[in-house]
Amino acid sequence: MQSQLARAVKLLKQGELVAIPTETVYGLAGNALDEKAVAKIFDVKNRPSFDPLIVHVDSLEKAKEYVAHFPPMAEVLAQKFWAGPLTLLLPKKKIIPDLVTSGLPNVAVRIPNHPLTLELLKQLDFPLAAPSANPFGYLSPTTADHVRQSLGEKIPLILDGGSCQIGIESTIVGFPADVPTIYRKGGISVEDIERIVGQVVVLEKSTSHPAAPGMLIRHYAPHAKMYLGNIDSLLAAHDSPTTVVLSFQRYYDGIPSHRQFVLSPKGDLVEAAQNFFNILHHIDHLHPSVILAELLPEIGLGRAINDRLRRGAMNYSH
Ligand code: TXA
Ligand code: MG
Repeated sequence: MQSQLARAVKLLKQGELVAIPTETVYGLAGNALDEKAVAKIFDVKNRPSFDPLIVHVDSLEKAKEYVAHFPPMAEVLAQKFWAGPLTLLLPKKKIIPDLVTSGLPNVAVRIPNHPLTLELLKQLDFPLAAPSANPFGYLSPTTADHVRQSLGEKIPLILDGGSCQIGIESTIVGFPADVPTIYRKGGISVEDIERIVGQVVVLEKSTSHPAAPGMLIRHYAPHAKMYLGNIDSLLAAHDSPTTVVLSFQRYYDGIPSHRQFVLSPKGDLVEAAQNFFNILHHIDHLHPSVILAELLPEIGLGRAINDRLRRGAMNYSH
């Protein structure tokens, strides 16, 4: 029997899609240079065509084949954080189809840090366009099962690489007017980026036509209604036999433990990020009437997790 990896190589060369593991979340991958394969990605995800895709490569040299100009600051960040959860927005070369970038002049590029996907990329002579492998707007997948549950019937292969180590998407950094700018908070903290390039601009909000559609107001959202705030006050207003609580660190009185979920009992933001989407998928399967959640400390990966909580919640005003 062919190995999963060999099957993945074959399918991708034929222009088919394959779900791939990365250290952040699972991706829905296709040949980034093949417009038909790229169109399939938008179709399977039900993704609007104005929301561009990240291009994945396995070396800095390969990234340079698709980027017209690699500014020194971007190169320093790439040297420091690749392979890893950093996506760079850089001017694209013509070879990258406009469909990939939704007609924008920049291409988003990264080297994912997962052995299986790095081996896959090594065996291909094209880069992989891959958004998170979930229906548009829904929770990102951090296990092969998550992908199977939402897109399983639409794709010929899910390459199972276990649970994602980081658990939230990559941090997206661009350089408009040579100013390092964070378009999406993610698996590398703002503080870690600033330690390398000095102060950065962090784009917080967006409208219906965002700079990066991960910035769309409602995104990363569970099916269940989620309210954000002080959990004791929220419980006073929303407690029912199917209310679920999602907290950072502690359990709350007055609600049974099987309806409480804690992101990191020891208060570790890295662990909270690892657990975040997995716990939300689990909660969603319980079909709660409502999820009551609290924000995490606004530092490190807490900022990235809070960003996703706000975009998934009903009561957050932008
Ligand atoms: O960790 C990740 O980044 C995962 C794994 C699979 O690599 N991918 C991921 O892709 O999160 P996606 O498509 O779910 O989110 C990518 C974000 C989108 O919000 C998109 O708008 C933004 O990147 N993006 C991609 N290309 C862009 C471009 N040329 N200009 C501005 N934003 C871009
Ligand atoms: Mg996504």
